[in-house]
Amino acid sequence: MSEDLNIISGTKAEQYESLLPQIKGLLEGEPDVIANLANTVGALKEQFQWLWIGFYLVKSATTSKEEELVLGPFQGPVACTRIRKGKGVCGASWEKAQTVVVPDVEKFPGHIACSSLSRSEIVVPVIRNQKVVAVLDVDSEEMNQFDETDKIYLEKIVELITF
Ligand code: SME
Repeated sequence: MSEDLNIISGTKAEQYESLLPQIKGLLEGEPDVIANLANTVGALKEQFQWLWIGFYLVKSATTSKEEELVLGPFQGPVACTRIRKGKGVCGASWEKAQTVVVPDVEKFPGHIACSSLSRSEIVVPVIRNQKVVAVLDVDSEEMNQFDETDKIYLEKIVELITF
């Protein structure tokens, strides 16, 4: 397998259409979830150059019996390591088990500003056996960066990953 991605220009949908089979190819035959999460964010970062892209994984909390989101593979500036259920955009997506699109982070009550450069955000839950096991979080320096197209394709991309 070649590890070079074919990066294209074009509409957002065209870029996703080109990337989707390549991510599928990258994941095929590799059972290690961390390796697959890492290559997924690497591929998305190469194609889209967003400010920050990464996974938070649902794990046992260190200080209580509850679960919390813990930082996983990502590309971009260093980030918050733990997020509680219902907190920030990530915690809201986890709690609702739904994708959350935030056109302007300053207008999202409780938004957690890991980077002061972030202006808009999308968070996609990864659901397996009716349970959220992780979220994919993407941040942009541009306002209004994410829309229905990102929601559709990022949801398809997280479906490719075996947890
Ligand atoms: N902004 C997120 C926190 C994670 S960072 O953006 C990487 C939130 O509000 O949940």
